[in-house]
Amino acid sequence: MKSVGIDGISIWSGKLSLDLPNVFAPSVGEEPEKYTKGLGLYTCSFPDVREDIVTMGANAAYKLMIKEGIDPRDIGRIDVATESSFDASKPISTYISGCLEQVLGEEFRNVNNGERKFACIAGTQCIDDAHNWILSGRNEGKSALVIATDTALYERGNPGEATQGAGAVAMLIAEDPSIVELSLKQGYSSVDETDFLKPNQQFPSVDGKRSVQVYLSLMKEALTNFEERSEKMDIAEFEFVPFHVPFPGMVRKVASLGYRHMTRGTSIEEELEKIIGPKPEMEEFSGHEEYMEGIRKYMKLLDKTELYQKWYKRVIEPTIEISERAGNWYTGSVHLARASSLIYAAKEKLNLVGKKILVGSYGSGAQAEIHTETVKEGWEGKVKKIDIYEQLDSRRPLSFEEYEQIHDVHNYSKDTLLTDLTEYKNEFVFKGYGKMGERTYEFV
Ligand code: CAA
Repeated sequence: MKSVGIDGISIWSGKLSLDLPNVFAPSVGEEPEKYTKGLGLYTCSFPDVREDIVTMGANAAYKLMIKEGIDPRDIGRIDVATESSFDASKPISTYISGCLEQVLGEEFRNVNNGERKFACIAGTQCIDDAHNWILSGRNEGKSALVIATDTALYERGNPGEATQGAGAVAMLIAEDPSIVELSLKQGYSSVDETDFLKPNQQFPSVDGKRSVQVYLSLMKEALTNFEERSEKMDIAEFEFVPFHVPFPGMVRKVASLGYRHMTRGTSIEEELEKIIGPKPEMEEFSGHEEYMEGIRKYMKLLDKTELYQKWYKRVIEPTIEISERAGNWYTGSVHLARASSLIYAAKEKLNLVGKKILVGSYGSGAQAEIHTETVKEGWEGKVKKIDIYEQLDSRRPLSFEEYEQIHDVHNYSKDTLLTDLTEYKNEFVFKGYGKMGERTYEFV
């Protein structure tokens, strides 16, 4: 069987940033602690006036191709994941490949090019498509470019406004990868849900509290399904567990659920029982509500144990470091979480070769997916090339008034003129509209 996985990663953050506890919270009458302690967010990225999902995706992909020395003729697929598309027919992937062609001097004439949509899980699904394409042999030695790009904006005043962000993650999916190999086994949970959707509208209709519950319940089912299809998971086996990060506080919730799931029937469960008592069972309660209340109390106790906190600090905390400063990038978020843990491991000089990662993706609407990845020889050199922290540090901070204007600039129903807030250099930017209403781009 071929070894297939991620062979290169490049990230592009929106060039503006909003300080959530110190600028946004006081301007909307909220306490800073809602962000720092509750949601776990400090700043988030926004696109400048001439940035959008195409420029961010093309810039991430271009940087990846240059730094990895990828010959455009070796690319056989370009898959773009987004839930912020501005066109219901022409895929964003064609805009991005058009941008790349402007500067690479090669045409992507014979590639399979397309856009995939399933809320935030579409980036993981694009990787799946590329994986299957390579396993089948239809790639004929070529690799796939997967780009997850989004502007995660909510209507002003919507509770989701607290969790916005913008950026793109480009990944090279190839045979004999040098970062991680993807497992063949996967676990799924999929339902017809209405927790978050955009029925022909730019900003989402979202039932935030419900979406949190759907995320948790589907992730639990996907973990169970993964074990049914493979074998009982051993928590000690996983160096990191990157979950989809709509906001880091969500990961706090799903991490304890994952921990409880993976320690069931193990010596860790026995140890925990001695400290916080046995896990509640449905039979002990008069109804479902009472049982859920019992579970909530048990989880609170579990979260406070030294055993859990040590695991969380080592396995989960490194996965949310980028998102704490970048916000939600929808399709890119789980891939930021993987990158965050690998960058941390490289900084700490951890020996990861042969070690495993458990990845949990989620998309509203809704589906959760679980798979594992094995870190490959060469990962460290490739991961050291990811310059996301330099980008986050050099973003232009926004005042609240500028944030309001930038939100309007990216609102398709408003016609707002604003001068660029940053300088553009060696990057793709939005140029204007063409005669068919298409968006046009140039490299500056
Ligand atoms: N001090 C400490 N903590 C505080 C606080 C304070 N002063 N004020 C609030 N908090 C805590 C709250 O207790 C809460 O934490 P818990 O959930 O652990 O109790 C947290 O901060 C958030 O506070 P609220 O619940 O009051 O915030 P809210 O009403 O504004 O709603 C939200 C939060 C529902 C997540 C909202 O931001 C939202 O709708 N977000 C968009 C939807 C979303 O991200 N859903 C996630 C799952 S769906 C998904 O994953 C797909 C996707 O990417 C969108």
